[in-house]
Amino acid sequence: SESAESVISRLSATVSDYPKPGIVFRDLTPVFADGPALRTIVHALIDPFEGQFDAVAGIEARGFLLAAAGAYASGKGVVTVRKKGKLPRKVYSEDYTLEYGTATLELHADDLKPGMRVLILDDVLATGGTLGAACRLFERAGVQVSGFGVVLELTGLRGRAALAGHRIRSLVRE
Ligand code: PRP
Ligand code: HPA
Repeated sequence: SESAESVISRLSATVSDYPKPGIVFRDLTPVFADGPALRTIVHALIDPFEGQFDAVAGIEARGFLLAAAGAYASGKGVVTVRKKGKLPRKVYSEDYTLEYGTATLELHADDLKPGMRVLILDDVLATGGTLGAACRLFERAGVQVSGFGVVLELTGLRGRAALAGHRIRSLVRE
């Protein structure tokens, strides 16, 4: 069957000057919208980490899609890393900068127990600010980060260097 790299290059879109002038935005929604393609990318993200995680975390918003699918496919639970102000109980908060702005991510302090292992999924790795903040949230909760899985890595933004010391699986590097 078709490789993850092939379905991503065939189905993804590129939009210039979105969301701001000068940003070349890579849009993966057509990949998510295709059944066989979604199954292919989710398995390509989780299968290399088989036996190494107890839960799958997704970053709001597009990471939620991958994490829910990956958690279901592996029989594990899903954990939501959310933008500020969305979680109702005690949270850890981490500020970060991204390619086009600044933001805060939050995690419910008790969604996972200390000592558990989490695989963190998102659609795109750009500067690494987002995944770096997510990693700090889990570390504050005493949770081990098994690794990161992303569909697309924008290598020019050096996100991999920002996440040094962790295993990163990216399906396509541009
Ligand atoms: C995008 C993308 C990643 C992040 C990558 O999300 O889905 O989460 O930026 O950038 P970074 O590596 O430079 O941190 P965005 O913050 O646009 O949020 P959204 O999914 O809610 O649109
Ligand atoms: N596409 C999607 N998300 C992103 C991008 C992109 O090009 N850059 C930073 N986050």
